[in-house]
Amino acid sequence: MSALERDGASGRPQLVDPFGRAITYLRVSVTDRCDFRCVYCMAEDMSFLPKAEILTLEELDRLCSAFVARGVRKLRLTGGEPLVRRGIMTLVASLSRHLRSGQIDELTLTTNGSQLAKYADALRAAGIRRINVSLDTLDAEKFRAITRWGELDQVLSGIDAAQAAGLKIKINAVALKGVNEDEFLQLIEWAHGRGMDLTLIEVMPLGEIGAGRLDQYLPLSLVRARLAERYRLDDIDYRTGGPARYVRVAETGGRLGFITPLTHNFCESCNRVRVTCTGTLYMCLGQNDAADLRKPLRACEANDPLFAAIDEAISRKPKGHDFVIDRRHQRPALARHMSVTGG
Ligand SMILES: C[S@@+](CC[C@H](N)C(=O)[O-])C[C@H]1O[C@@H](n2cnc3c(N)ncnc32)[C@H](O)[C@@H]1O
Ligand code: SF4
Repeated sequence: MSALERDGASGRPQLVDPFGRAITYLRVSVTDRCDFRCVYCMAEDMSFLPKAEILTLEELDRLCSAFVARGVRKLRLTGGEPLVRRGIMTLVASLSRHLRSGQIDELTLTTNGSQLAKYADALRAAGIRRINVSLDTLDAEKFRAITRWGELDQVLSGIDAAQAAGLKIKINAVALKGVNEDEFLQLIEWAHGRGMDLTLIEVMPLGEIGAGRLDQYLPLSLVRARLAERYRLDDIDYRTGGPARYVRVAETGGRLGFITPLTHNFCESCNRVRVTCTGTLYMCLGQNDAADLRKPLRACEANDPLFAAIDEAISRKPKGHDFVIDRRHQRPALARHMSVTGG
């Protein structure tokens, strides 16, 4: 029996949305929990979901595999913090069968780095080649202020371990007004000096987190203009299947990416959807429309109801998002947190 037959997907077509975009990239939040409490992501007293609502590792595997059977070629595990989910390596090792069979091109994850020292070798052994590590500052005190609970040294050791294991790393840094905006030169020199790409991310208005969003918002157009006074930034065509637009920094030779959801639209070429750890499928990061895949997943062992729910959801994938920070009330445009959809 072929893998397609086993998954009940033989004869089913590739997922294509109403605007002709093939869905080839699935981001999966494997937990809503995290060992950090980054100020732009979570409130310090976040309440987390009851266990019964969270998909088991087996259910997550089945869900990912259903998407793979329908043409998804890249899987990214995220969270919350994916590496704090108990048994996470069981899921990674199991999903790696799709790499070996050639059904996917990449299995990867986005992590805060806190557990990397522990897992780097196992990730590499499971076929993971590149990971994203989120790190907004190289200053230990600032790091603590941003993450509330994080230890910079632990993350830096994790990065060392990952590089020693042969994993390629891209650093993601959220640009925060008045917090790390004086540090981008240092971050660039550090990342590029270690052979890592760096991507700067604009703060997105997701979830109530206490502090005013407008206080944190720093337009990357401004950051780029400032960096251009110091470096030659050459536009390059490099794409990773994500929304970042890259330049090469002539002086360091490294790549620098910009993700600008508020000031620039990256929707035309969107090939991705997101699933939360409860099995909710979001067709667009910036819209509330979602589909419940847990119900069809738990309804029966055969995948037919699941495929039907996925097809129906993809037929509703919107053309683009609509992020706006409500400037009068400083309320987020969307009530859910980034730790729900995984960024
Ligand atoms: C939600 S985290 C999940 C994975 C992992 N815990 C980590 O931090 O890399 C994924 C990414 O979203 C980013 N993020 C979280 N909240 C954000 C926000 N409001 N605006 C922009 N990026 C955000 C984080 O910095 C991180 O790079
Ligand atoms: S950004 Fe990542 S590390 Fe920070 S609180 Fe959110 S999920 Fe945790």
